[in-house]
Amino acid sequence: MLVIEGLTKRYPTGDLALDGVSLTVPDGQVMALIGPSGAGKSTLIRCVNRLVEPTAGTVRLGDTELTRLGGLALRRARRRMGMIFQEYALVERLTVMENVLSGRLGYVGFWRSWLRRFPLSDIEEAFRLLNRVGLDHMVDKRADALSGGQRQRVGIVRALMQNPDLLLVDEPTASLDPKTSRQIMRLIVELAKERGLAAIINIHDVMLAQQFAERIVGLHAGRIVFDGAPGALTPEVLTAIYGEEDWSATIRKGREGEEDDGEGEGGKAETATDPVRIAAAQ
Ligand SMILES: Nc1ncnc2c1ncn2[C@@H]1O[C@H](COP(=O)(O)OP(=O)(O)O)[C@@H](O)[C@H]1O
Ligand SMILES: [Mg+2]
Repeated sequence: MLVIEGLTKRYPTGDLALDGVSLTVPDGQVMALIGPSGAGKSTLIRCVNRLVEPTAGTVRLGDTELTRLGGLALRRARRRMGMIFQEYALVERLTVMENVLSGRLGYVGFWRSWLRRFPLSDIEEAFRLLNRVGLDHMVDKRADALSGGQRQRVGIVRALMQNPDLLLVDEPTASLDPKTSRQIMRLIVELAKERGLAAIINIHDVMLAQQFAERIVGLHAGRIVFDGAPGALTPEVLTAIYGEEDWSATIRKGREGEEDDGEGEGGKAETATDPVRIAAAQ
């Protein structure tokens, strides 16, 4: 469980990026954090893993108060947080397998990892996960030879190799086409659910958020202005988050989303666990 209390971040430039954010994400819950550019979504995720130093407030993951940690303890705690980024952050000239195994760097000693001597159990786990995301035939491909969707799958597997308790995902689909975006969102949500992980997914695409997350938190100018089920997103709420606009088409499309989907790999239809349907059924 992730517990954020009174999280505030003022950058040295004077920008107040977060203004007293409090939020609890239980284990196994996939939460989408939506909001316009500059709302503070990336800052929130980075304050959780301490890539950005909060100005005030506390962040706890399980029994560990992350905001108190430094040095080795912080590095250890970071292993428990898997990060997935928009820009994938793969090492281009390394293979898929090597990129995936780099997720174990926090566990394997420096020299051992430098010599690329990973334990067999790590390699087996890497194969298992690559198989799970449909990339087992690509282990020896270089990262720079992959498509955007494949690169993001590698990023997902690398994050899971850390065996994290929490997934922090920042705009995972921003560089992907609509169909691949859906596949990637579905994959992240399925894997988080399978492993009982708490997940925060920053995403500016309201429809994707509605379709795949069970809970939506709306951020506007560093403050939470909405926290609820996908079905509770009304035009008024979207106006509070994003500003004045005609939202009716967005919301309607979001709820009918399944039907306009060509569907891809696996050809799997949305199941009854789809949060949008559940919200609509309630
Ligand atoms: N490193 C930084 N230095 C100064 N201001 C920053 C920095 N990063 C973000 N900001 C500011 O903080 C606010 C929130 O940014 P960000 O967290 O990136 O929002 P989002 O991810 O929702 O687009 C913005 O006003 C942005 O300009
Ligand atoms: Mg951002």
